Amino acid sequence: MTRRDMMKMAALAAVATTSATAYDEKLIANTEKMTPKDPKNMTKGELKHTPEITLGSKDAAGYTLVEVSVGQEGIIHPSTDNHWIYEVSLHADGKLVDMVSLEPSISRGYLGTRVKLDGVKTLKAVAKCNLHGDWESSHTLA
Ligand SMILES: [Fe+2]
Repeated sequence: MTRRDMMKMAALAAVATTSATAYDEKLIANTEKMTPKDPKNMTKGELKHTPEITLGSKDAAGYTLVEVSVGQEGIIHPSTDNHWIYEVSLHADGKLVDMVSLEPSISRGYLGTRVKLDGVKTLKAVAKCNLHGDWESSHTLA
């Protein structure tokens, strides 16, 4: 094996290691799609799980900062060893534009990205809690 081949194998091994999740997937106990009973009067538990979409500034190339935080009204979903948001995704008019996989305790439910919003009508965010299921919210653009 040449030195070059060894370097390639080391690089592939590093990619394989970093792309795997570290958490135990057996901890994901609920993948049900959840909806607030009364969206205009959400409970604390519903607010804690519903992702909040915030738009920031547009950069020189035309990409707008889009942030998704879980949950709403100042209530932050916990991130502990056994209860956390393991995935947050962002969709523009139904098309996936970004997704993050999160580890318990060390990271919490958040996604930040830049999106070209020209012509986009609706942004949707989905937050997945390992215990309380999948929660989504939408943001309609003018
Ligand atoms: Fe939860």
